[in-house]
Amino acid sequence: MKVIIEQGEIQSASVDAIVVNLFQGVTQPGGATGAVDQALNGAISDLITTGDFTGKSGEVATLYSRGAITAQRVLVVGLGESDKFDQEAVREASGVVAKCAEKLNIKALATIVHGGGIGGMDVVEAAQAVVEGSLLATYKYDAPKSKPDESKPVEELHLVEFDASKIEPIEAGAQAGEAIAEGVYLARTLANQPSNVATPTAMAEAAQAMCESVGLNCHILDEDEMHAEKMGLLSAVTKGSSEPAKFIVMEHKPKNAKNDGPVVLVGKGVTFDTGGYSLKPVAGIVGMKGDMSGAAAVIGAMNAVGRLKLPVHVVGLVPAVENMVSATAFKPNDVFIGKNGVSVEIISTDAEGRLVLADALCYADSLNPSVVIDVATLTGAKMIALGKHLSGLFVDDDELHDALVAAGKKTGEPFWRMPLDPIYDRQLKTQVADLKNTGGQPGGAVTAARFLAHFVGDWPWAHIDIAGNHLYSEGPEFTPRSYLTPGSTGNPMRAFVEYLRNL
Ligand code: BES
Ligand code: MN
Ligand code: ZN
Repeated sequence: MKVIIEQGEIQSASVDAIVVNLFQGVTQPGGATGAVDQALNGAISDLITTGDFTGKSGEVATLYSRGAITAQRVLVVGLGESDKFDQEAVREASGVVAKCAEKLNIKALATIVHGGGIGGMDVVEAAQAVVEGSLLATYKYDAPKSKPDESKPVEELHLVEFDASKIEPIEAGAQAGEAIAEGVYLARTLANQPSNVATPTAMAEAAQAMCESVGLNCHILDEDEMHAEKMGLLSAVTKGSSEPAKFIVMEHKPKNAKNDGPVVLVGKGVTFDTGGYSLKPVAGIVGMKGDMSGAAAVIGAMNAVGRLKLPVHVVGLVPAVENMVSATAFKPNDVFIGKNGVSVEIISTDAEGRLVLADALCYADSLNPSVVIDVATLTGAKMIALGKHLSGLFVDDDELHDALVAAGKKTGEPFWRMPLDPIYDRQLKTQVADLKNTGGQPGGAVTAARFLAHFVGDWPWAHIDIAGNHLYSEGPEFTPRSYLTPGSTGNPMRAFVEYLRNL
């Protein structure tokens, strides 16, 4: 989808369809929507007076201009209630339109910038949300099917604004939207790929290619280097796999960086989680190609950070590894020692995520970070506790908590605070090591977070458990969102970028 910014009247755009909007409960369309209504001899007013269109979020109506304007069709989209209007509402409306336009096989679409006029939103943010919503809604995973999908997204998206003074901010917002969507596309694709494609090696190659394309430094540690770094827990997990583990380091270090130490993002990169000798049951193993969704979010965030040239020093870390069963695999009751010297008795080889993250957190410490945030599909217990609407957020630092919650609210990737009380450490006690790697069923998401806490240094740290909400499909357990597509979401990649932009 090509994004084009144009100054002019929306009703004069020479495209296949134009897009205007209505808030819920509006009886007299104003602004650009009013102008189009006039050009159409009151066709939009008719939609309202008949009650055929109420302006609710998710609503879209198609009108035919019959020569009254250049475009053959007019799409009217609902923005929902005006007092609840925000960037998320703009993304939602734009996603609804983009999906509708794709169904109608529209090639060139012109839209006003929802929120940029009557909505009273910051026009940069409005334009960003329009572009984000449109691009994210029409993401496709390029599956190797012998008969490829016929449906093709809109080719040209024109953002049309009459007020010349708003063109520059619209361009800035659109560029940000494109940069962020590019990151989400990469994240979704990595997590949608099967594990025989997205191996640790392939993940490292994808990260390297991304870094080259946006101008980041990239360094990949191989297994020998991991041993040299004394990453005994990561090494334990990879023992059973014939796919070599990769430790991916991506760095964005601009000269104008505002922060002293880097913000370090750490993503769980288990490319497939069989459970190991603590083997998963038949139903539970399906879907475990997505156990690198945290890694995908971090790689996608680094992509966006590089494109946006954010004035922040950011490092992305991804321990990429496969959790398999074999004669060389690690076993329950084995004891291994992490990079910081903490010893761990393995109770379940299926609690592998916390092991690879532990060594990655120790590596983060060697970078003298200002903040570390890890993200992982870490526990089924998180799904029991919170379901799939929210990410579990474990953090002691209130300032970091507030910043992440605000960012997640803005991007529609909400976080919910979970406990991190050291009392839970009692469940991780063992006679044969400093820690055991599982704490039993009660509070399973919390004991996983507490396990990680033993590998955290003297810096603000947040752990985000995205189990369940790394995926999306239609159904009651998911918050409906027009701009998500079945499969991987990229969650919470956009929240990371928002957090970093606010620093
Ligand atoms: N990758 C899983 C967690 C998971 C489950 C993510 C379902 C997404 C959907 C993780 O490695 C795991 O297996 N966790 C165990 C921990 C337990 C053994 C303490 C779990 O949740 O059962
Ligand atoms: Mn597991
Ligand atoms: Zn796992």
